[in-house]
Amino acid sequence: MADVVYLVDDDPLVTRSLSTALRLESPWEVHAYESPTEALAALTGDAAARGPAPDVVISDFKMPGMDGLTLLRAVRAAHPDAVLMLLTGFADKDAAITAINQVGIWQFVEKPWDLGDLLHKIQTGLDKRRLARELATAHTELSRRNAELSRSLEELGRAQARLVETERLAAVGRVVSGLAHELGNQLSLVGYAEPIARRARERGDAETLEYAEILVATQRRLMAMVGEIKDFARERGAAYVREPLDVAAVVDEALAMLRYDGEVRRVRLRRVEGGHPIAVGHAGKLSQVLINLVRNAAQASPDGAEVVVSLRESATGTDLVVEDHGVGMTPEVLARIGEPFFTTKGERGTGLGLGIARRIVDEHGGQLEVRSQAGQGTTVTVHLPPLGRA
Ligand SMILES: Nc1ncnc2c1ncn2[C@@H]1O[C@H](COP(=O)(O)OP(=O)(O)OP(=O)(O)O)[C@@H](O)[C@H]1O
Ligand SMILES: [Mg+2]
Repeated sequence: MADVVYLVDDDPLVTRSLSTALRLESPWEVHAYESPTEALAALTGDAAARGPAPDVVISDFKMPGMDGLTLLRAVRAAHPDAVLMLLTGFADKDAAITAINQVGIWQFVEKPWDLGDLLHKIQTGLDKRRLARELATAHTELSRRNAELSRSLEELGRAQARLVETERLAAVGRVVSGLAHELGNQLSLVGYAEPIARRARERGDAETLEYAEILVATQRRLMAMVGEIKDFARERGAAYVREPLDVAAVVDEALAMLRYDGEVRRVRLRRVEGGHPIAVGHAGKLSQVLINLVRNAAQASPDGAEVVVSLRESATGTDLVVEDHGVGMTPEVLARIGEPFFTTKGERGTGLGLGIARRIVDEHGGQLEVRSQAGQGTTVTVHLPPLGRA
């Protein structure tokens, strides 16, 4: 399609000769006007009066009724990327130059013009505009790609962080399982406490019996702890049998066990019904997850506060939610939870609860999501995939 050139000059001699020359010398579609108001109507008026959209507008400076700058300013507003040119007599040159920058005029051409020079200026203006348009398109495309790239980068960063976390867990796991193994061996040696206790009981030696029983109890406790640590450090993916479960029954069983827990008894435990969703899993492991989460919630809560455990079934699976209104976590704590041995509870915590919970949930093909705000409380959601996708 040919570029459209508008020509406006109150001198009929100028419009006639220039439009004839342009039609002969260029491929452009030329529209010539002697009246600036008529030109303005064609360029910016309502749909009925309007001519084709201009690519180039060349206007005389001094015209009766409206000067060329006023006309071009109006054209600029309606057609932001049209190429605008001003024709000036020698006497108007200075005034025209100062006005040019305000309107964004491409060139001014002095009368009398040199046709070759004028054609060249118009063509250069059109070329420049084409380039600017291409540049704008390229720029949009570039920004889009850039946004895509930064999204991928973020994704990559998250994947890497997960990888680092997994690696770190695995490294800690190897050290810990070595230690636990060694400790377990040494501890079994303390098994002689049991026969000592038996003998002391037979002989009625109360003092020895008392010491031996302390030893036996301590050994059992330490053995149980070693078992837990081994369990934690066990290689990822180690098999345990999973089967379709009534999640509500698992929840009820875990909550029943928790009613005897000293910390949990301090709070009001509320269970919100959520039907009987089925998930594939290991009942013992899942109840371990829930026990860890509810104990954390209770430990974070003041006496008598409410801890809510709810079950929700959706198209994307089953959500198990533990919500408390306790101390919450600062962003620093939130960033570190699940890290082995990270605890803010000093002697009262081992800092393994959430790490174990997260791993069990992972092994079930689910996600564990923690939202928390210091001073407000914490919501932990365990999402289990629907049957058939676990
Ligand atoms: N519901 C919660 N509210 C506030 N802080 C929490 C909550 N759950 C976990 N935390 C924070 O995360 C830390 C790690 O929790 P995690 O359960 O892994 O270990 P722990 O509770 O300290 O020890 P344990 O191994 O006995 O569970 C806690 O020490 C605590 O700071
Ligand atoms: Mg805990």
